[in-house]
Amino acid sequence: MRSLIAALATSTALLVGAPASATDLEVTHWWTSGGEAAAVKVLADSFTAAGGTWKDSAIAGSGDTARPIIISRITGGNPMGATQLNTGRDAEDLIKAGLMTDLTELAEKEGWKDFIRPSKLLDACMYEGKVYCVPINIHSWQWMWTNPNVFKEAGVEPPKSWTEFVAAAPKLKEKGFIPLATGDGWQVEGIRNVLTVALGGSDLFLKIARDKDAEAAKGPEMRKVWEGMEAARSFADPGFVGRQWNEATGLVLTGKAGAQIMGDWAQGEFGLAGKVAGTDYDCLPGLGEKEILDTGGDAFYFPKNSDPAVTEAQLKLASLLVSKEVQVAFNLKKGSLPIRGDIDMAAANACMQKGIAILAKEGAVLPSNEQLLSSDTQGQIQDLAAEFFSAPEMTVDEALEKFSEIIASAK
Ligand code: GAL
Repeated sequence: MRSLIAALATSTALLVGAPASATDLEVTHWWTSGGEAAAVKVLADSFTAAGGTWKDSAIAGSGDTARPIIISRITGGNPMGATQLNTGRDAEDLIKAGLMTDLTELAEKEGWKDFIRPSKLLDACMYEGKVYCVPINIHSWQWMWTNPNVFKEAGVEPPKSWTEFVAAAPKLKEKGFIPLATGDGWQVEGIRNVLTVALGGSDLFLKIARDKDAEAAKGPEMRKVWEGMEAARSFADPGFVGRQWNEATGLVLTGKAGAQIMGDWAQGEFGLAGKVAGTDYDCLPGLGEKEILDTGGDAFYFPKNSDPAVTEAQLKLASLLVSKEVQVAFNLKKGSLPIRGDIDMAAANACMQKGIAILAKEGAVLPSNEQLLSSDTQGQIQDLAAEFFSAPEMTVDEALEKFSEIIASAK
């Protein structure tokens, strides 16, 4: 009898105590900087604690490198279990091809539309009324990060706006500092995107990215933006070619550069280095010109899988990603804002608090480029911005003409 009870006890313990031998879920993403890796660890540890098995497949480099690898694996019949991509149109062809797991039933059961805000985040995951991704954060490109001590050492006031930065930059250069730290490719396209809002305003941004207005794309307001790019080009150092975004953040963080225009994922690097927002570094949303943010960010997508155990693991992870606990812990590490409005972010630092306050303002939040422009159009604009930045002989007039042509055929 005892042996029967003992056997039952053991089997019960196996079922109840230790998590079932969970199916491996291979997860792809491009989060390989220090701050990003710390944020990924929060997700992996949470999934493991919930009985999952996270098989990490990080792809070094930026989204430019990772996106085509991820998409070709899915279209090529070698799908991962889950993948990070930007919230928006990057996966639209995969969804249209029926290659992605439908999350609608889970989303409705858990009431995602009741707590995910702004609602455009979940809208960006929808196709023909069904849900195909889980937005997990709000990143905004619309920030400039500065090191106040660099400006003080150069004998100028730390800037509170792009305009003040432009006035102070020559002094930094004279004193041997890099005024504006950046990398090439998508990073200089980010500068163009942010200057469009800061110098051209929300209406100009929407006329171009949403309405594809080719006239506005070469109008007087857009001229101010490319003139801003011309100034930015003069403030970058020659070493920007091939520099990773987090290396540029490192130049600001270590006092070699005065500022960087970068999405708020840069906060993850400052946080990892133990820097204090508002003291060791400052943050200018909307470049201090217009208090505007965009709702860029990341979402998790789940390629369809023939193994029901994998699909079960996918849904388990999807549910975890929107949970209050994971939302707080992950976003604090990632430097992003949470996708739900019903959690306490008291631990958020001074810069995140600026972001949360702007998010709450009516009309202060724009959709992101990824949500409005096709990947192809985004690529063409990025190539133009990179060409302009790398070829000082390229004029504002030429950039305007080429930009307008791209927008005229934009999808
Ligand atoms: C963005 C992504 C961020 C951040 C950044 C740099 O596309 O949304 O999470 O990782 O790339 O890698």
